[in-house]
Amino acid sequence: MCGIVGYVGGQNAAPLLVEALGRLEHRGYDSAGVAVVGSQLKVTKRAGRVRDLADVLPKRMSGRVGIGHTRWATHGPATDVNAHPHTDTSGTVAVVHNGIIDNAAALRARLTDQGVALASDTDTEVFAHLVALSGADTLEGKVIDALDAVEGTYGLAVVHADFPDRVVVARNGSPLLVGVGEKEMFVASDLAALVRHTATVAHLADGELATVTAAGFTTFRRDLTRTQTTAREVDVDPSAYEHGQIDGRPRMYTEMLEQPASVERALRGRLDERFATAHLGGLEMDARSLRAVRRVKILGCGSAYYVGQMGASLVEELARVPADAEAASEFRYRDPVIEPDTLYVAVSQSGETIDTLLAVEEIKRKGGRVIGLVNVVGSAIARACDGGIYLHAGPEIAVASTKALTTMFVGFALLALQLGRVRDLSVADGRRLVAGLQALPAQIEQVLDGEERIAEAAKALAAAESLFFVGRVRGYPVAREGAQKFKEISYRHAEAYQMSELKHGPLALISPEVPTVAIVPDDELTDRNVAALHEIDARGGPLVVITHAGVDLGELKAERIDVPRNERELDPLLLTVPLQLLAYHAALTLGHDVDKPRNLAKSVTVE
Ligand code: F6R
Repeated sequence: MCGIVGYVGGQNAAPLLVEALGRLEHRGYDSAGVAVVGSQLKVTKRAGRVRDLADVLPKRMSGRVGIGHTRWATHGPATDVNAHPHTDTSGTVAVVHNGIIDNAAALRARLTDQGVALASDTDTEVFAHLVALSGADTLEGKVIDALDAVEGTYGLAVVHADFPDRVVVARNGSPLLVGVGEKEMFVASDLAALVRHTATVAHLADGELATVTAAGFTTFRRDLTRTQTTAREVDVDPSAYEHGQIDGRPRMYTEMLEQPASVERALRGRLDERFATAHLGGLEMDARSLRAVRRVKILGCGSAYYVGQMGASLVEELARVPADAEAASEFRYRDPVIEPDTLYVAVSQSGETIDTLLAVEEIKRKGGRVIGLVNVVGSAIARACDGGIYLHAGPEIAVASTKALTTMFVGFALLALQLGRVRDLSVADGRRLVAGLQALPAQIEQVLDGEERIAEAAKALAAAESLFFVGRVRGYPVAREGAQKFKEISYRHAEAYQMSELKHGPLALISPEVPTVAIVPDDELTDRNVAALHEIDARGGPLVVITHAGVDLGELKAERIDVPRNERELDPLLLTVPLQLLAYHAALTLGHDVDKPRNLAKSVTVE
C-alpha cells in the first residue's frame, strides 16, 4: 500500500527518491510522485508505475531535500492530480501521507469556506493547506498546528520552501522510519527503501514527530517535549530486498522455493529433543503463566487469518486448550470481550496490517495479554505486542504470501507444542511432533519437486471461470488458503467450502464447468471425504485431489497430487504447498503478473 520516502543530504534528491520508491513497488500502488526543495519547491507526480514517473522527471529538478510517495487510491481515483505529494495553493508546502484523515470531509468544507481552492479529491491535500495557513514561525509548529486539526491515522512527511534544510515527519498508526547515513538522512515507511543506503534505523512511535536534517534527527511530541528515540543497527541483507525477477522467475516462485530453508530457520534453536518440547523465549511467559492460559484467540487478516485457523486446531489438538481464530478486521469492530486468562495471538507477515494492529491495541486497552507471530522485525505489531515469535521467513516481496505463511504454521506448531508440554501432552507425543517438525523442510522439498504434475493440473483449472476448494476440519483452512491464493493471482472465482456442507447448498453449482480442488489427507475423516467426492464426481464435476499416497480414491475420476506423510497435526502445512504451485501455474497460464496482482497491496495499512 502507500509508501513514503524522504531524503536530506548532499546528493541530488529526485533520482534517489525515485530509486527508493522503486523499492516500495511490491507494496502495491497506482501512482507515484516526488517533491524536491532547491531554489524553489518542485513537484512531479503521475498515475501509473514508478518508471512512468522516472520518464517524466525534469532533468533540472535539483535540490538536496525531498519527499516521495507511492499511492494506493482511497479518496478519489488514481489520477495525476490525486497522486502525492500534495501542495498548498502557492506551492510552498508539499506533503506525502499514508493512512486516512477521518475528518477530511469536514476539513475540506472548512477550507472551501475560507476560499481555498482544492485541486484533488484526496484527504491528504487538506494537510498541505493547513500547514500553509498556520501562523507558527517554525515548520515544526506549522505541522503541529495542522495535526491538531486532523483526526485519523497517518505517517506524514512535509517539506516547505521557506525551511529548505529539513523534512518534518509525524506518525500515528502508519509506520515511519528514519535512516542515518554519513552527513545524509533518509525517511521511509518501510525498511526496504532504506537498506541500500543504511542499516542504522530509528522507528518512530505513535504520536511522535521528527525533524530530519543532513546533520541528524530529533524526535518530539506535539507539545514539543523531546523524546528519546534513537537509531539502532538492524541486521539486514540488502540483497534479500532486491526486486524483480530472479533467474527470470517471479518473486513468488523464488519465495515458494525458499520454503524448506525458511521453515528450517523458523525451527532453528527452538526445539528441545530432550524434553520433547519447544522453547520460545520471545513469549516471555514461564511455565506457570503458560499453564494459566484458559483459551487462545488468534487474530489475523486474509491468509494470516486462515493460517491462524490452522494454528487454533494445533493448539486444541496438542494443548487441549480451547482455541479459535477470527479475522482481526471484524474483531476490533464488535467491542470484543477481553478475558484475562485468554492468550491473544496476533499473526502478520508485514507487522503493519492496520486491522491487526488496531485489534492488538484494543486488546491491550482492555488489559489483555497479546503475543505476536510476526515476520518483519521491529514492525508496528511486533512492537505493540507483549512478546512474541519472529517467523524468520526473510523479506517477502511478492504480494501473494507463501513462505511467510508456512513459517506462521511452524510458529503455531511450536507454540502449541510448548503449551501442550506444560500441560498433558505426553513425552511420546512431544517426541512425535518434534520429529515431525524436523522432517518438514525435506518434505516441502519433495512437494516442490512435484511441480510439473501440479503445473499440468493448474492448466486445466485455469480454463474454469469458477472453482470450489473443499476440505474438512483440518483440511478446511487449507482449502480457504488455497482458494485465496488462486483468486488473488488468477482472478478466477475460487470459493472455499467445508466438505461437510457441500450437500447443504453448493452441490447445486457442481457441473463439468466447475472443478473442485479437494483436500483429502489420510486421517480419521478420509472415508467421509471420499464419499463426498463421489457426490461431486456423480454430477460430472472435475476433481483435483490433494492427498497422501495410499488413500484409496476408488473409481473416482480425479487428478491426484500426493504429498508426503507427516504427523496428522502437521498435515495442513504440506497440503498447502501444492495449492501455492497450483495458483501460480494457473496465473502464469492466464498470462498474469503474479508478483503484482491487480487491486492488491502487500501491506494493508488503511482500514
Ligand atoms: C494473501 C495475502 C494477504 C495477507 C493479509 C495479511 O496472499 O498476502 O491476504 O495475508 O493481507 O497480511 P499480513 O500477514 O502482512 O498481516
